[in-house]
Amino acid sequence: MLDVRIAERSDEGREPLSHLAVVRAATRAAHAKIEALPSMVRLMSDDFSPAEYRAHLARLLGFYEPLESALARSAGDVRPPLLRSRFLIADLLQLGLTLEQICALPRCELPSIASPGAFGALYVYEGAALGGQVIARRLQRFFRSERGFAFYRCDALGTRDRWIAFCNSINAAAAENQAAICDAALAVFDAFCQWFEREDDRTAGDV
Ligand code: HEM
Repeated sequence: MLDVRIAERSDEGREPLSHLAVVRAATRAAHAKIEALPSMVRLMSDDFSPAEYRAHLARLLGFYEPLESALARSAGDVRPPLLRSRFLIADLLQLGLTLEQICALPRCELPSIASPGAFGALYVYEGAALGGQVIARRLQRFFRSERGFAFYRCDALGTRDRWIAFCNSINAAAAENQAAICDAALAVFDAFCQWFEREDDRTAGDV
């Protein structure tokens, strides 16, 4: 299994703590919990199968589509292009699902995101795209294929540039919003965990 955990990353020695450093520290354990979910461990396993990958993308769509809708309603001026559910649909079509099947996939219910904390939800959205680049490289090598990785590849170089822009804007957020930012980030991580824990109760691969 490839070990690409970020749990050990540290901001020690960088003063003063920016909003980014605070939200990163506040969510480090939540990220580690996600990486330990059985379905995430499978993603990095040496016997991961194409059928499991398809089911994984289907489950992701059920999370990302509602997340993008919630972000579109709350994130105001700081809203980045919310394209990841479109990438998921493109991947699922390429991997053989029909549009009808994709529409029928379950979607999760997410609480609305209040605007003072929207940066926290965006932190999870943009940061996950960053980690996704690592996962994309691993999966492309593993499956020896270029098909079905639009979601994890995201927009490659644009992802890193957006992350840098995002880091600048989160650090410019008002100081009094810091607690709301951390709470919103934790709520999104938690919603992701719950959604995938429910999937882990089912048999993997049954899209
Ligand atoms: C097996 C699953 C996962 C692995 C192996 C993984 C791995 C990584 C890696 C390597 C990075 C650092 C990327 C970089 O700095 O270039 C990262 C960052 C991040 N990931 Fe994940 N990730 C996983 C799942 C997720 C999920 C499902 C979410 C959100 C729902 C998420 C949220 C984040 C966030 C917010 C960051 C940015 C952290 C920061 O620098 O402050 N990750 N991830």
